[in-house]
Amino acid sequence: MRLKNKTAIITGASSGIGRAIAVRFMEEGANVVAVDISTAVVEGGAPVIEVLSAIGPNAIFIQGDVARSEDVSHVFAEAQARFGRLDIVVNNAAIHAPKPLAETEETEWDRVMDVNLKGAFLCSRAAVRIMLQQEIVAETRGRIVNISSQHGMVSAPGDFAYGVSKAGLVYMTKQIAADYAAANIICNAVAPGKILTGKSGRAILPEMLEYSHKRTPMPRLGRPTDVASAALFLASDEASYITGHNLLVDGGWMAA
Ligand SMILES: NC(=O)c1ccc[n+]([C@@H]2O[C@H](COP(=O)([O-])OP(=O)(O)OC[C@H]3O[C@@H](n4cnc5c(N)ncnc54)[C@H](O)[C@@H]3O)[C@@H](O)[C@H]2O)c1
Repeated sequence: MRLKNKTAIITGASSGIGRAIAVRFMEEGANVVAVDISTAVVEGGAPVIEVLSAIGPNAIFIQGDVARSEDVSHVFAEAQARFGRLDIVVNNAAIHAPKPLAETEETEWDRVMDVNLKGAFLCSRAAVRIMLQQEIVAETRGRIVNISSQHGMVSAPGDFAYGVSKAGLVYMTKQIAADYAAANIICNAVAPGKILTGKSGRAILPEMLEYSHKRTPMPRLGRPTDVASAALFLASDEASYITGHNLLVDGGWMAA
């Protein structure tokens, strides 16, 4: 129960990695506020709130778009009203516009930046504003965990706006960490490599999977639970004296 009595907001929690993080945090005793623009489960299965409620009573689901400041304000107000103290925010929601630069429409660029970067900005700002008012517990007023990517550190093939947005998120992690370390607010990131979620389409095209296998020294691709374990560590008191870090969970992709 590494997150007992802690409250965590997790964005993009209906499916994939965000869902795995929400489940893992719930299993570790957290109060979980699952946020998503959709209740649909990409990989299939019950809506996330049903899965979380089967683990414990302290879960709520709020439908909202992280790119809309009204929605973000609503999420943080609801979380505080229900659980009081806010300990952890995981900025996981993200989208792709899988095209190279020359083919990327302005509207596609704008939406990727709105969700992947502005969403993290709005949620981190709301979190820090609340955390600054909170007492220090276990040496921190609160923690932010951003889900970045190996893409953005190296080029994302055919996924220009996404890669740029993820590079921005790594920078945002460092700046928040540096600016608020003195206030005992901790900010880190987890950078997944290729994680097999329930996504269809481009994510599982044979050539994309072959590329990912070629790039990954370990013999398998990643699982959402691999990322959830790393997010759990960075969200827990065990990650003491670590801030501004971007923890690769990539099977060695970036080492090769
Ligand atoms: N799967 C991978 O291989 C991989 C690799 C590197 C990084 N990542 C990162 O991990 C995170 C999760 O990826 P995933 O593969 O689980 O994706 P996914 O598409 O399976 O899930 C993303 C979730 O975010 C939600 N979402 C999308 N836009 C939203 C919005 N505006 N507001 C609120 N929720 C929104 C979706 O509804 C969905 O439930 C993302 O940040 C992604 O960039 C994934």
